[in-house]
Amino acid sequence: MNNTINLAVLGLGTVGTGVLNLLKDNADELSRRTGHQLKITHAGTRRQRDDIDPSINQTADLMAIAAANDVDIVIEVIGGTGVAYDVITHAIRHKKHVVTANKALLAKHGNEIFKLAEENGVQVRYEAAVAGGIPIIKIVREALAANKIDWLAGIINGTGNFIMSEMQLKNRKFGDVLAEAQALGYAEADPTFDVEGIDAAHKLSLLASIAFGIPVQFDKVYCEGITKISLQDVVYAKELGYTIKHLGFAIRRDNGVELRVHPTLIPNQALLANVNGVKNAVMVDAHPLGQSLYYGDGAGAGATASAVMADVMDLVRAMSSHNHFAVPHLAFKSDQLSDTRILPSDEMTSGYYLRLTVKDEVGVLADTTRILSDNGINIDAILQRDAHKSGLVPIIILTLPVVEKQMNTAIEQIEALGAVVEPVVRIRLESLE
Ligand code: HSE
Repeated sequence: MNNTINLAVLGLGTVGTGVLNLLKDNADELSRRTGHQLKITHAGTRRQRDDIDPSINQTADLMAIAAANDVDIVIEVIGGTGVAYDVITHAIRHKKHVVTANKALLAKHGNEIFKLAEENGVQVRYEAAVAGGIPIIKIVREALAANKIDWLAGIINGTGNFIMSEMQLKNRKFGDVLAEAQALGYAEADPTFDVEGIDAAHKLSLLASIAFGIPVQFDKVYCEGITKISLQDVVYAKELGYTIKHLGFAIRRDNGVELRVHPTLIPNQALLANVNGVKNAVMVDAHPLGQSLYYGDGAGAGATASAVMADVMDLVRAMSSHNHFAVPHLAFKSDQLSDTRILPSDEMTSGYYLRLTVKDEVGVLADTTRILSDNGINIDAILQRDAHKSGLVPIIILTLPVVEKQMNTAIEQIEALGAVVEPVVRIRLESLE
């Protein structure tokens, strides 16, 4: 193996530029740690840049770089599932190791890409695809390898967390905060991926695979975004001692696995409730370790480049020790992935926050609590506010965990009451215990 490792960076957006800068700043340290000079020799870009090292060969011909004989590792930071799929599979077929930050691609095509990599004797590394700079893939796949993971819960979309935090802490408007996240380079090219929970669902599908040893199943993740969260729900939740966060959950149950991303009420004192701004955090509940929490920047050039280059360095170390495949792509040996059932959303269990808007009439609260009790739903707290000028009264109810099917029936019956004038607002609630 040569002393110099040639790297090709495909895509010179926020992350690609971050990778270039990282190598410029830390090249000597990286060399001391790996015993090799890491050099970016090729950059795939549609638009030539005159502000980068002129020795880097810039070209729009991505397929040529992905197959070039003088490239050792291909770094894909283009994003999306189109060109990125073509270049990654092309690189793998040409026996190149690949490092990618592309969660959308792996969520959709990960099973196929990992299989192709194994057939071609190469690795696809994806630390940067989940939670930016937090090394959560390495933690779950390697550091916690001796544990049985019971559940994990994470704030895994920085843009969504930034928006929720600014709304909660500063009463800022949704659109303004989103525009700021876009300007800071945190948001996805299509920001609906952030605010509708799709980006978090991509990441959760990868985390669940390496936690439970199941194939990547993005299409089975129950997905709800933050666009319907109103400021009044944030305020009522706060009064009851809760914070609303957009969380991803992967939970092992007796009858299968729950995969879900959605806004969630969590107790104010929970560590995750205090993760604000663009920060990400993932809490893992594992046996025998117990709970552990991982926190850091989930997006941005520096954080993502940090994860990308750590993967590159792992590959360089493995290449020079002829030990390429010590860690399987999805943490478990590929012939050992299980077909554990992923539960449909109406079989998932959680507590609920309900907000009813009712006419100020005798018996409406009694009718509501009777319906909940008839459906086996245990009430944890009730808050009734003064009537609005309109004469309508908000009633907030928190419940203990219940299977969603039961809650669906109860809500249908509550909405059929004459005094209930608006659809019931529901947000899931987790104690995280
Ligand atoms: N749009 C993503 C986020 C970028 O805001 O978390 C990092 O994956």
